[in-house]
Amino acid sequence: MAAMLRALFYLTILFNIHFSLAQDENQFIYNGFQGANLHLDGIARVHPNGLLQLTNTSKNLKGHAFYKIPLSFNSSSSALIPFPSFSTNFAFAMVPEFPYLSGHGMAFTISHSMDFSQAVATRYLGLFNFTDIGLPTNHVFAIELDTIENPEFEDIDDNHVGIDVNSLKSVKSAPASYFSGAEGKNISLKLINGEPMQLWIDYNAPQKTLNVTLAPLRSQKPNRPLLSTAIDLSQFLLEKMYVGFASATGSVASNHYVLGWSFNKSGPAQNLEISKLPPVPSHKKRSQNPTKIIMVTIAVILVLIMVIGAVYFEIKRRKKYEEVREEWETEYGPHRFSYKDLYIAVKKVSHDSKQGMKEFVAEIASMGRLRHRNLVQLLGYCRRKGELHLVYDYMSNGSLDKFLFSNEKPNLSWLHRFRVIKGVASALLYLHEEWEQVVLHRDVKASNVLLDADLNGRLGDFGLARLYDHGTNPQTTHVVGTVGYLAPELTRTGKATTKTDVFAFGAFMLEVACGRRPIHLQGQTEELILVDFVLECWKRGAILDASDQNLEGNYLAEEMELVLKLGLLCSHSIPAMRPDMRQVMQYLDGITSLPEIQTDIGVFTSMFTSNEASEFIMSFPSSYGRLSAHSLSSNESILRKGR
Ligand SMILES: *[C@@H]1O[C@H](CO)[C@@H](O)[C@H](O)[C@H]1NC(C)=O
Ligand SMILES: *[C@@H]1O[C@H](CO)[C@@H](O)[C@H](O)[C@H]1NC(C)=O
Ligand SMILES: *[C@@H]1O[C@H](CO)[C@@H](O)[C@H](O)[C@H]1NC(C)=O
Ligand SMILES: *[C@@H]1O[C@H](CO)[C@@H](O)[C@H](O)[C@H]1NC(C)=O
Ligand SMILES: *[C@@H]1O[C@H](CO)[C@@H](O)[C@H](O)[C@H]1NC(C)=O
Ligand SMILES: *[C@@H]1O[C@H](CO)[C@@H](O)[C@H](O)[C@H]1NC(C)=O
Repeated sequence: MAAMLRALFYLTILFNIHFSLAQDENQFIYNGFQGANLHLDGIARVHPNGLLQLTNTSKNLKGHAFYKIPLSFNSSSSALIPFPSFSTNFAFAMVPEFPYLSGHGMAFTISHSMDFSQAVATRYLGLFNFTDIGLPTNHVFAIELDTIENPEFEDIDDNHVGIDVNSLKSVKSAPASYFSGAEGKNISLKLINGEPMQLWIDYNAPQKTLNVTLAPLRSQKPNRPLLSTAIDLSQFLLEKMYVGFASATGSVASNHYVLGWSFNKSGPAQNLEISKLPPVPSHKKRSQNPTKIIMVTIAVILVLIMVIGAVYFEIKRRKKYEEVREEWETEYGPHRFSYKDLYIAVKKVSHDSKQGMKEFVAEIASMGRLRHRNLVQLLGYCRRKGELHLVYDYMSNGSLDKFLFSNEKPNLSWLHRFRVIKGVASALLYLHEEWEQVVLHRDVKASNVLLDADLNGRLGDFGLARLYDHGTNPQTTHVVGTVGYLAPELTRTGKATTKTDVFAFGAFMLEVACGRRPIHLQGQTEELILVDFVLECWKRGAILDASDQNLEGNYLAEEMELVLKLGLLCSHSIPAMRPDMRQVMQYLDGITSLPEIQTDIGVFTSMFTSNEASEFIMSFPSSYGRLSAHSLSSNESILRKGR
């Protein structure tokens, strides 16, 4: 009897609890799910402390939890009962197996059926399968908390909240975040951070608007929703619908928990009582080891990459500095450099023949004996497969043309320019007349003039062209030089003389004084011939108009006039009319004054333009192999420049 009474007593208590939790099918609240009226399937279970666990870290499994009693939504029988508004909120937590990897997410779900046996886990979240996804007959509405970016469903990222109708291709979605009124800005949330959060879903049936709002568990409900959209749920939901949660794992898995849930069709859902909610188990210990393993793996891979990289670069480095060395070269020992020492080098001459190399190197050694303060000293050479490198003194300020034509260097004052012109003139005089044999330069131009630390001009690449003549058939003609600096007779006969050097020097003087190249393109097609331009200014009685505008008139007028007129004189089309370098020096030093110069057009001329010049590029003596020759532009040398 007592036992029976006691049994009845317990039964009454049980009934009361049940009743108080869900008196009304239109509203319920669960602060923890002890004794909750839930239908569970898959791996979903309620822990003794009331924690609802939808999934654990077992792979490719589903878990569902639905409120057992169907709720009436779309009353088709009577138009008098309108589609209800509803409001719900729940607390959840996602505790992943690995800190940065989680699958596949969970969804608050309103469905016409609780039977999801045909649905698939993984990215389908246990809601759909391959054949029924997207079908209007599903009658499934869901708010997904998606932690994997899935291109098939056009997911925006791997951490978002989305509104889904009959499909997992969201109607609308947003990266997980909440609006903080205190801070006045959105704050991002990582869904899989293991911390409990709350989600609110509010549907206003008359207005047909839906709000979804996310926040950390202990925050107030933000006054701005994360998602807000116009949607008519009456189009999708049937009369009897079940509300609950679906979740699934894939090849990566996460513990998905629901801590508490309130639902209301009669007004705003009550707030959960946070103090009553079950705690979320910590999985930190489990997740530490995999982290460590990942870190160690990454470290090992990095070390491997570094070792492989070091070996690769060492092989590459050796290859890069590989040189050609032959027995006979020991004789020229002091003139030979290691390629590594001069990789910042100098002048590269291609050769693909061994023939004549010996003579060539002998010439270089001989050129190395040339000494003048306005010559760049040739120090020696280096040989590699198919390449010969000539080593000159390093000139810290680079070439003169950079100062004249590019903005990367400061403007050069007239004082410096005039000094450079005189210096180059004296170097040419030395080559032509003062050394033991006549050395022709054959490529005088601003880019072959280098400036030392004190901005003194030093002529580079001297004598190099002469080497090409060595031991060759005198019948062979070959032009060496640069278009715009080539004397007219040189292009006809191919025979270089001191006067062809003087012609080039004339072009060089005009270049320095005017700050323009001998031939340069004006606009699209028109070429400006510098000689013609200076001549025109002169005939107008305003030769100083030709001076470089960057100088802004800061020059000695007599010096400028002298350089311009002397430049023209050196550009005379008749070689005999050009002064020699000794006379040039005397004019520049003011020892002799300039003769009268005829200013007829046609007397001074660069004779041809760059297009015509290409015909004059000839083969080089075969005994030295084929030196690299290629088509010319007006400021390109026939000798290919090294680095
Ligand atoms: C997940 O839950 C299922 C069902 O409760 C259980 O069989 C399985 O061992 C659990 N897996 C893990 C990793 O705890
Ligand atoms: C997909 O689910 C539907 C029920 O929604 C079922 O009729 C169908 O057979 C399932 N398809 C597959 C391939 O399992
Ligand atoms: C959705 O949020 C907006 C902006 O806060 C608000 O004006 C509107 O009333 C909300 N609607 C519902 C159904 O809660
Ligand atoms: C905050 O996020 C919402 C939803 O993504 C967006 O509409 C809103 O412009 C954001 N507000 C600020 C201040 O960034
Ligand atoms: C819901 O009810 C409305 C009005 O009775 C009806 O037009 C609509 O088709 C219903 N929706 C569904 C999915 O049956
Ligand atoms: C539902 O809304 C009504 C009216 O605002 C309120 O009295 C009731 O407490 C709410 N119930 C729940 C479970 O939110």
